[in-house]
Amino acid sequence: MRTAALLVPALAVLLSACGGPQSMLGGGGSSAAAIETLWWAMFWAAVAIFALVLFLAAVGGWRGRRAAPGTLMVAAGGLVLPVALLSVLLVYSVSLGERLATATERAQLRIEVEGLQWWWRVEYPGAPGAVLANEIRLPVGVQVEIVLGSPDVIHSLWIPGLAGKQDMTPGRKAHLALLAEKPGVYRGQCAEFCGAQHALMALYVVAMPPAEFDAWLARQAEPAPTSEDALLQRGREVFIEAGCGACHTVRGTPAKGRLGPDLTHVGGRLSIGAGLLPANIGAIQGWIADAQNHKPGNLMPSFNRLSGPDLNAVGAWLASLE
Ligand code: CUA
Repeated sequence: MRTAALLVPALAVLLSACGGPQSMLGGGGSSAAAIETLWWAMFWAAVAIFALVLFLAAVGGWRGRRAAPGTLMVAAGGLVLPVALLSVLLVYSVSLGERLATATERAQLRIEVEGLQWWWRVEYPGAPGAVLANEIRLPVGVQVEIVLGSPDVIHSLWIPGLAGKQDMTPGRKAHLALLAEKPGVYRGQCAEFCGAQHALMALYVVAMPPAEFDAWLARQAEPAPTSEDALLQRGREVFIEAGCGACHTVRGTPAKGRLGPDLTHVGGRLSIGAGLLPANIGAIQGWIADAQNHKPGNLMPSFNRLSGPDLNAVGAWLASLE
């Protein structure tokens, strides 16, 4: 009874990790499906061996010294079986890895992703100007090649619902094949320790129907929308006056910095701060006022010297940039 009382909550905690936008089980991509099959093969192989070992241990316990195994049994169970099983799994996983890696040769769309401390820069070379941060969008059913790089330390892109991990090593380009089969939002995470805020280096991947994707990409390549609204115009002024352009680009304004994320269409994204907060007015204002409290050590200073009305205006303007 006490065992059950402990086991049930433990299982509930374990199984609760088996769903959601960042699960590798039941993902939405061909690479993820192949990796999931491999994972289940390894899982059931491990279960079978575990059961066999438990069974032999029970037999040993029951028969006592009469059960002392002969040389043949030790050789079969300790040498032949593991070598055979591990060889099969090795060939399976290596050939799968090879197949996934060469899928980039059939890519119809290339996306460049750069890992930085602690966010992701995403560029679409086929649509000059389309630069975003912490969000990758791709068309469903189209083979995509992600070209990965890093200017600072080693990061690793892992979108469990779509593909396996790929390290991003400074000075080298890595390639990852993605093919989303189901529209939806997938969550990715940096999977290599890269400094204090490694845990807060996430991103969203949005798989869209191809026509919707094309319209979205064309819009991303355009400069920021303009507005006649007095509050939004004041927000734009505050952004320029406060010197935000030293680090950020907003295409269509004098802001041309590249140290931080391109904010041209930030209001249309799912998150700010690399998956940390939703991209709405309140969260944007909170981030600007106290970025160092939200994510200590990131390169964005806390702009707590802005007046209330100015903070309100700049937040409203950024949120309006869809
Ligand atoms: Cu980037 Cu961990």
